[in-house]
Amino acid sequence: MSNITYDYMEQYIRGLVPDNAGLLKELEEYAEENKVPIIHKEVANFLQLMINIIKPKRILELGTAIGYSSILMYNSNGSVEHVDTVERDENMIALAGANIEKAGLKGKINVICGDCLEVLEKLVDKYDLIFIDAGKGHYNEFFPHCQRLLNKDGVILADNVLYKGMVASRELVIRRKITIVKRMKKFIDMITKDDKLITAILPMGDGIAVIKSKED
Ligand SMILES: C[S@@+](CC[C@H](N)C(=O)[O-])C[C@H]1O[C@@H](n2cnc3c(N)ncnc32)[C@H](O)[C@@H]1O
Repeated sequence: MSNITYDYMEQYIRGLVPDNAGLLKELEEYAEENKVPIIHKEVANFLQLMINIIKPKRILELGTAIGYSSILMYNSNGSVEHVDTVERDENMIALAGANIEKAGLKGKINVICGDCLEVLEKLVDKYDLIFIDAGKGHYNEFFPHCQRLLNKDGVILADNVLYKGMVASRELVIRRKITIVKRMKKFIDMITKDDKLITAILPMGDGIAVIKSKED
């Protein structure tokens, strides 16, 4: 149970998304068997849709895991020229590297090894799409860097912003997750109360924020 929407609704919507084949299917099965948290099926579909609308050339992802979403994003539209993706877990970095090679995308998807905040501080070149999917308790710190690294018409997508419903309902909060929930609420305040931004929070997967700068 996701506590984000009704189970029957989630299952219905998931059932409408066509199944992947080949490497992506293999990675979905690997993630399931090994409990690697990758994006939900309907979120993958939403990313593909956003990429087909935005047609980004350069994408930055925070949180690579086994490379599933970076491979999926690269292959979503012919516009995508390059994906940089950040991961700190050595085991994941090795698996992602092997999977990216298997996908024939070595040189197109670059895994940057290290902690997201430390990597973000050093990045200079801009991106058209930034996907935040790591370090739920640190989105506040990542966000100013993401804004600095975003091209004028770029879009930031952040996953897990409703965090199993705990962000929206006190009754769902698990004690040991209080700090993450409080930080995520601050992040949501930051992106929804800034009148220079236009933001939508979608109750999909674990909650997705779609953020864009308002036009002048
Ligand atoms: C939810 S998974 C990413 C899933 C991936 N985007 C996908 O859907 O295929 C989050 C990943 O971020 C990594 N991570 C968490 N906090 C991080 C941080 N502060 N810096 C770098 N990587 C981090 C974890 O090791 C984990 O592999």
